[in-house]
Parts: sequence; structure tokens; C-alpha cells
Amino acid sequence: MSTLRYLTAGESHGRQLTAIVEGCPSRLEVSAADIDADLARRQLGFGRGERQAIEHDHAQILSGVRYGLTTGGPIALAVENRDAANWGDVLAVEKPAATAEPVTVPRPGHADLGGALLYGLPDLRDVIERASARETAARVACGAVARRLLSLLGCTVHSHVLEIGGVRAANTPLDDLPSVDADPLRCLDHEASEAMQAAVVAAGARGDTLGGVFEVVVVGYPAGAGSYVQADRRLSARLAAALMSVPAVKGVELGLGFAASRLAGSEVHDAIAFDQDRGYYRETNRAGGVEGGMSTGEPIVVRAAMKPIATLRTPLRSVDMSTHAAVDSRFERSDVCAVPAAAVVGEAVLALTLAAAALERFGGATVEELVAAVEAARRRARRV
Ligand SMILES: Cc1cc2nc3c(=O)[nH]c(=O)nc-3n(C[C@H](O)[C@H](O)[C@H](O)COP(=O)(O)O)c2cc1C
Repeated sequence: MSTLRYLTAGESHGRQLTAIVEGCPSRLEVSAADIDADLARRQLGFGRGERQAIEHDHAQILSGVRYGLTTGGPIALAVENRDAANWGDVLAVEKPAATAEPVTVPRPGHADLGGALLYGLPDLRDVIERASARETAARVACGAVARRLLSLLGCTVHSHVLEIGGVRAANTPLDDLPSVDADPLRCLDHEASEAMQAAVVAAGARGDTLGGVFEVVVVGYPAGAGSYVQADRRLSARLAAALMSVPAVKGVELGLGFAASRLAGSEVHDAIAFDQDRGYYRETNRAGGVEGGMSTGEPIVVRAAMKPIATLRTPLRSVDMSTHAAVDSRFERSDVCAVPAAAVVGEAVLALTLAAAALERFGGATVEELVAAVEAARRRARRV
């Protein structure tokens, strides 16, 4: 069965992030410039820390692409960590003569404590480095490849910020999605964005942090990917799992989501219509583009709730693991709010999941085969 999968490696302040995308059909145009455009979008957003000023992420394509086209082989990608230059031997592979002072105070809300206990690591630095959301740059690089593949099916993937620190966007014209990066918080409601920015400034001044809600909208994805026949083939479950894999995401909604639970059935389900040109379609899309675990062909609309950044300038209590003494948590350079960036990561993981599901449904060792199979399925759906 054709599918697309990816793995990443690398530490936050190690030499580079590395990723492998496997299963991409041959003859897809992929360039480092395409990937860099998405990497730059991940670095956007009012409320980010100093790291974003240091890093200007650039992807190197190391294999699987020749003369601008994928070969069908694994695509290896690397994103250098410029900040590594400031970290000397702290992340050295060979043990240096002078080793860094171990980190022994776990930060609440992070993987620090669980990771130290799980892997038996006396220096929390080993956990912090891999658990850091810096890893999401590698996912965004992989996602850019998936986005290229989906674009050949006429499919676009966009995101926007709906809520930060309890301030909600009211007016969200989805037609403006392609230009949302121009807003400092990637929010379609510019008035709400200003209130959100003020909330971020106020939280930062208090030594606090904020979370929020973002939405990913995928238009043009073909009907019929996913399935109802097994739990792990439900597209809805796979989309939720993809978003829940983004660090700090604590909740996911598809279509009406939780609001559906407070409405009557007549206000929730999307009536079915047929037109010779369009085939089957819906006048409403409250389901968010997935019904019975399969894509309906309507836009896929998914929201994710992100918890506030866990690293607080005003520390929470913790325990020094070398003495068991109660101490204040450590502060490590950090964002105040990263919801706009998380939304771009959300686009990447959804693009990867949807590309994988499309390949499983339609197959294709070359992009021409995939596109032809999708077009044939669309024609068939209009005749059934
Ligand atoms: C794009 C992005 C940027 C993040 N930046 C930071 C940060 O600067 N500081 C921080 O403490 N957490 C940051 N986080 C969140 C942490 O990675 C996350 O809270 C932590 O890994 C624990 O979350 P979990 O319980 O969901 O695993 C960021 C998350 C994302 C998606």
C-alpha cells in the first residue's frame, strides 16, 4: 500500500534538525525555496522569544530530489540550528574535557520530569533538547513536501488564529486566508488581533504566558480518503492524532466540534445534494469535511487548543532532583505566546496526514498516477 511517512531527529541546540520523508511519489517538483517559505512562516508571530531573531531557518535537501524532481527515494532534509554556535560543547557527541553543569530542576508543564524518569537521565538537558518545540521546524519542512503533493490535487492548506488568552476573533472572512501572515498574530480579525497583542504584552510584563485556539482549513481535498471499517483508518481520528502530536495542543475539534453537542440534529447534519457538474455536495459543512471517517470533498476544518507556554518568567515550584529540595523552577529563554507558529505546525502535520491518506486511497508511484487516480475517482463519483 502506498503511504507517506516521516521521522525527525535532532536536538534544539544541536548542529541541525534532520528529517526523512518516505513514500513520496516520483516527479514531484520540490525546492528548498518552497520549504524555506513555510519555515519562515513558522517563525512568525508577535510574542515569540529571542530564538526567532537568531534562526533564519533554511532547509537543505540532501537526497531523494534530483534536478528539482523527487525520485521516489526517501527525501532527507536538514535544517541547521544557528544557535548551536552559542552552545559550545554543551551538546557535544564526544565527551569534552569540561562538561556542562547538569540541569536538575524540572520545569512544570514540560517533558522534563517524565523524560528524566523514563530514560534514567540525571541531566535534564538531554530531555529538554529533544522535547523542545524546535523539532517542529523539521515537521514543517516535511509538511512543505506534503503541501506540494496536495497542491497537485487542487488542494490548499491554510491556518489562522481564532483566540489568544481568551480574546476571540469575531469576524473571520476565510477568503482572506492567503494573506493572513500579514497580521502580527496571523488573525483574520484585525481588531481582535490588536486586543490579543495587548494581552500578550500584558502577560509578558507579568512574567506569564498565553495559549489560544487556531484553525486549519483545507480546501479541495478529494472525497473518499479514510474509512469507517477500522478504528485506525478513520480520517477524523488521524487528523485529531496529528494535531494532538503538536507540543502543547490539548484539544481538537472537527467542524462544529463541541458546539455540535449543544445543538439539535437538524442544526448539525449537512443535507446531501447532487449536481451534474459537481456531483454530490453539501450546502452546509458543519461536519468539517469528514463524515463516517471519510473525507466528503467539502473543506476540512479543524481547530486546536494550545495551552499557555509552560516556561514562566515568574516560576512555579519544583523539586531539585539531585537533592529533593523544594525550589523555584528554572527559566529558559522562551516565547510568551506561540499560537501563530503552532498553527503553521498544524498545517504541516495535517498536510502530511492528508497526503498519506490520499496515497493510501488513490495510490501512485508517480505524481501523474496519483493525479490520474484522483481525477478518475472524482469522475466516477459524479456518475454514481
Ligand atoms: C511552535 C511552538 C513553539 C513553542 N515554544 C515554546 C517556548 O518557547 N517555550 C516553552 O516553554 N514552550 C514552548 N512550546 C510548548 C512546549 O513545547 C510544550 O508546552 C511542552 O513540550 C509540553 O507540552 P505537552 O505537555 O503538550 O507535551 C512551543 C510549542 C510550539 C508548538
